[in-house]
Amino acid sequence: MASTTNVSSLKALSESGGLTSVPSEYTYAMNPNDQADSNDPEHSIPTIDYSLLTSTSPDQRSKVLNDLRKACEEWGFFMLINHGVKENLMKGMINECDAFFNMTVEEKKEFQGTKNVLDPIKCGTSNNLEIDKVLLWRDYVKIIAHPQFNSPHKPVGFREAALEYTKRTREVATEVVKAISETLGLESDHIAKSMNWDQGLQLMAANYYPACPQPDQAIGIPPHTDHGLVTLLIQNQMGGLQVQHKGKWVNWNGVPNAFVVNLGDQMQILTNDKYKSICHRAVVNNVAARISIAVAHGPAVDTVVVPSPKLLEREGQSPVYSGISYKDYIELQQSGNSNMKSCLDNIRI
Ligand code: OGA
Ligand code: NI
Repeated sequence: MASTTNVSSLKALSESGGLTSVPSEYTYAMNPNDQADSNDPEHSIPTIDYSLLTSTSPDQRSKVLNDLRKACEEWGFFMLINHGVKENLMKGMINECDAFFNMTVEEKKEFQGTKNVLDPIKCGTSNNLEIDKVLLWRDYVKIIAHPQFNSPHKPVGFREAALEYTKRTREVATEVVKAISETLGLESDHIAKSMNWDQGLQLMAANYYPACPQPDQAIGIPPHTDHGLVTLLIQNQMGGLQVQHKGKWVNWNGVPNAFVVNLGDQMQILTNDKYKSICHRAVVNNVAARISIAVAHGPAVDTVVVPSPKLLEREGQSPVYSGISYKDYIELQQSGNSNMKSCLDNIRI
């Protein structure tokens, strides 16, 4: 990608002044038919009340499990409220990410990593400058937070916030995965056991999308699915996440203090297509920079993920996916270009 390989920060480029249009390397022409519809409440992401998942009332619990099952079957995305993660921790994490992106290109260099998917720490711009056909309108910093915790040691409060934030999101994700297991009619620890959850991979990806002079000419993250089991996402006050639902793009404008949770490819493999990993994307805006933080939770990297034999037996189904280790899957997904959409097709029987 000739002239832009030396752009290591889109933020720096966009603040250097005079960007009144989207440079050609970033031009992403969106088909007008592919724009999001209005925010029709009929088509808004379902809400799950986390506090009811741990309720001692059997009625409340069966109701919320039923809602969760529906959300997983019909949407693959849901909003999680009353999850107990403190507002100041969520806001603090966003502020620390903001401070990270505010460091100079020079200061960030030490954290750029080798650009391998499983780098413990990396930061940069777009997705993969070597293979991206269109550059993405975003900068990122990514860390592996579990089974070993890694973090940049700058800015000052980043590490501490990231340690606490990823610990708490993992606790929430653990409960969510238990509940999902139950919605499938399995033991609550079935998914965790078969995915070696105790050693599971947790990746925190923070995205910085600068305000864009022509938002319909660029893309933050193109349509893709996440590779893991469940991802928990938060954002600053700016919206931009769009979710595919019944052939339409639905906006998630954010609800203060809520997580948006989505199911990933390993969940689709495990459930033999019962629960789908839903395509989503991040669009950009011309008002203010958007920061989002996605924390992805997956199996332990050496786990060979297959459709659950217990589920197959009960449903009288044959597996529609061949087994693949989570690590190989991640590498397969990243080796494609930014059209990561069809990675599951590679292992479909
Ligand atoms: C991601 C992602 C969406 C967003 O990081 O995988 O889908 O809204 N992010 O930033
Ligand atoms: Ni995603």
